[in-house]
Amino acid sequence: MKLNRVGFVGWRGMVGSVLLQRMMEENDFSLITDPVFFTTSQTGQDGPDVGNGKKALVDANDITTLKNMDAIVTCQGGDYTSNIHTELRNQGWNGYWIDAASTLRMAPEATIILDPVNQPVIEQALADGKKDFIGGNCTVSLMMMALDGLLNANLVEWISVMTYQAISGGGARQMEELITQMGQVYARSKPLLEDKNASILDLDKVVIDTMRSDQLSTSQIGYPLVGNLLPWIDKDLDSGTSREEWKGSAETNKILARDDRPIPIESTCIRVGAMRCHSQAFTIKLTKDVPLGEIESILDSANDWVSVIPNQREASLNQLTPAHVTGTLDIPIGRVRKLHMGGEYMSAFTVGDQLLWGAAEPLRRMLRILSQH
Ligand code: HSE
Repeated sequence: MKLNRVGFVGWRGMVGSVLLQRMMEENDFSLITDPVFFTTSQTGQDGPDVGNGKKALVDANDITTLKNMDAIVTCQGGDYTSNIHTELRNQGWNGYWIDAASTLRMAPEATIILDPVNQPVIEQALADGKKDFIGGNCTVSLMMMALDGLLNANLVEWISVMTYQAISGGGARQMEELITQMGQVYARSKPLLEDKNASILDLDKVVIDTMRSDQLSTSQIGYPLVGNLLPWIDKDLDSGTSREEWKGSAETNKILARDDRPIPIESTCIRVGAMRCHSQAFTIKLTKDVPLGEIESILDSANDWVSVIPNQREASLNQLTPAHVTGTLDIPIGRVRKLHMGGEYMSAFTVGDQLLWGAAEPLRRMLRILSQH
């Protein structure tokens, strides 16, 4: 079935741009009779041409027009969701709301979408008449794509995860600032790099002095990230955990519809100077001692995107890095091994593009699922 009127909000931002790019690549607009592009600032200007010419952009706060949509896909952010979703529902709008923001994720009537992992949960929600379908936190979605096999085979007793999260998670401006910081450190270091007699300690001092000085741009990230890492992401929940760390457990168990028997998941979430791939190192306690070869085959066959990288030096350094994975839908998982603590303990490392499976991909796939209903 074709989708009739689908509204897109926040399509020009970073996640929205990746969403549109992926929808064009997959010919998703052929499923939509009348795509309508909304704007918060450029009403009346030309919208994008997604196959049928350009149409004028519509005001994203125009509730009357929004109410005419059968589905709304928004990457506009949490404030927009808070304002507009409530207003639309209060006015009786009964269309599908597909959202990248976290605002509604844990609401009882909302379903977190990651269909390779939780297609049955999504199907049940549709059968129950649910209308709010929300993309998960990027770190959570990437973890679940990687551990899909073990999770669905009920082999996971608990997970401890250390994350190495890319700056794209903080937005486009922060990506730009990371590169600016790199340039500023390099510019100050260049004379010493070119001086054959300069000592490494002098170079090191120039670098750290630049990082600590007010000559380093930090207005977006707030801190030096070049040559550094930041061991806190998102808000302080005043419980010893960050909001990003809390999401790891809360969202994973909601995606799996396991709120009644949650898998304990503990995270320490860390920002590193990668551009758009989040990496994660897991320590996992399995529910039973499964041979390593079997674990690898369960992981590798779970979905079309995950693949096990042999736990060898060359393969890991070539295939299990942000530099290799960025811009692809691949979810490599490697460094898979049993631990000395016992046969039920294993570790693994995964990398995934946080703008693709971590943000845009589940949204466009939800539109496909709706078009099949
Ligand atoms: N909160 C994530 C991060 C990105 O800061 O990396 C969005 O899910």
